Amino acid sequence: MKLKILVTAGDGVGPEVTNEAVAVLQDVAAIAGHTLEFEEKRIGGVAIVADGTPLPADTIKAALDSDAVLLGAVGGNEFNSLPSDKRPEAGLLQIRSALGGFANLRPAFSFKELAANTPLRQEIVEGADILFVRELLGGLYFGKPREWDQAKGEAWNTMRYTKAEIVRVARVAFQLASKRRKKLTSVDKANILEVSRLWRATVNEVAAEFPEVEVEHQYVDAMSMHLMNRPRDFDVVLTENLFGDILTDEASVITGSMGMLPSATIGGKVNLYEPVHGSAPDIAGKGLANPVGAILSGALILRHTAGLEKEPAAIEAAVRKVLEQGYRTSDLVRGSKQGITVLSTKEMGAKVREAVKTLLK
Ligand code: IPM
Ligand code: MN
Repeated sequence: MKLKILVTAGDGVGPEVTNEAVAVLQDVAAIAGHTLEFEEKRIGGVAIVADGTPLPADTIKAALDSDAVLLGAVGGNEFNSLPSDKRPEAGLLQIRSALGGFANLRPAFSFKELAANTPLRQEIVEGADILFVRELLGGLYFGKPREWDQAKGEAWNTMRYTKAEIVRVARVAFQLASKRRKKLTSVDKANILEVSRLWRATVNEVAAEFPEVEVEHQYVDAMSMHLMNRPRDFDVVLTENLFGDILTDEASVITGSMGMLPSATIGGKVNLYEPVHGSAPDIAGKGLANPVGAILSGALILRHTAGLEKEPAAIEAAVRKVLEQGYRTSDLVRGSKQGITVLSTKEMGAKVREAVKTLLK
């Protein structure tokens, strides 16, 4: 198997974590006899500084020319005063839109070894295994009109969805649910928003195509509470763009750290893989970042783009093994440090690679 992967490391901790992800993928490819070619391009703040735009044309071209894109993170405090279409985040929205992936898969699961270390009680989180399907190309992020009229002191955004946009992401979510525990929770705000009423009606129509999947609807405010009270009750959670952005940060509490979570965006011309965490400028360059979200995003490339199973499963097992051995990056340490070794970004990457090698040989 041969894959061309474009790495857009971006800002802050992006380069540190994607370096580890690439190193893991290279080792796996070497052992399993696959060829992975990596190319690097700029996005976000580094591109604003070097090229004057958050998404240079040659980055888009290289992305469309590759089999998968692995993105680090974008954003930095020095760009906070720029208008939204000039900020580093605009580069991310533009690449999402250029690649066309509309279904952002964000698994949020509990690791046995970390369950005692989350702010939630162990018996609440242990065993939780949720797959969020966040719609990624619609809603308030892309809806028009959008404007900040500074003279008037007024600003507006538009939450807009077409039925077709809801149907396509709902189908992805139902298909995934039918291969998992066959339960789908759709999240909206249908007691207030017309968009959500269309969302709910459309999800119910798509549900008829998947009689084996049990469907429930939750309002987003109630859902944010259920996620903390009873995370084990959820399997696939389908929601629109902004609700998904917020709920997946919340759901990272179940795992213990944002640094652990990967994501895959599918359904477009080229799939986009990125850890859920941001650029974390406060810890950038210090070797403190957790590379696991990026490493697991790399595993998702092998699963969703390459169609492999043994190799991504080995990467996931390697992460569990390293946690079992007591290795942690500092974001994972809460309370007692007994039996725990705190590692840097690079050291954590190296431990995962060691474990992957043993597992695949
Ligand atoms: C995410 C991030 C992005 C988003 C930002 C950086 C544009 O928060 O991937 O969750 O809001 O989608
Ligand atoms: Mn987010």
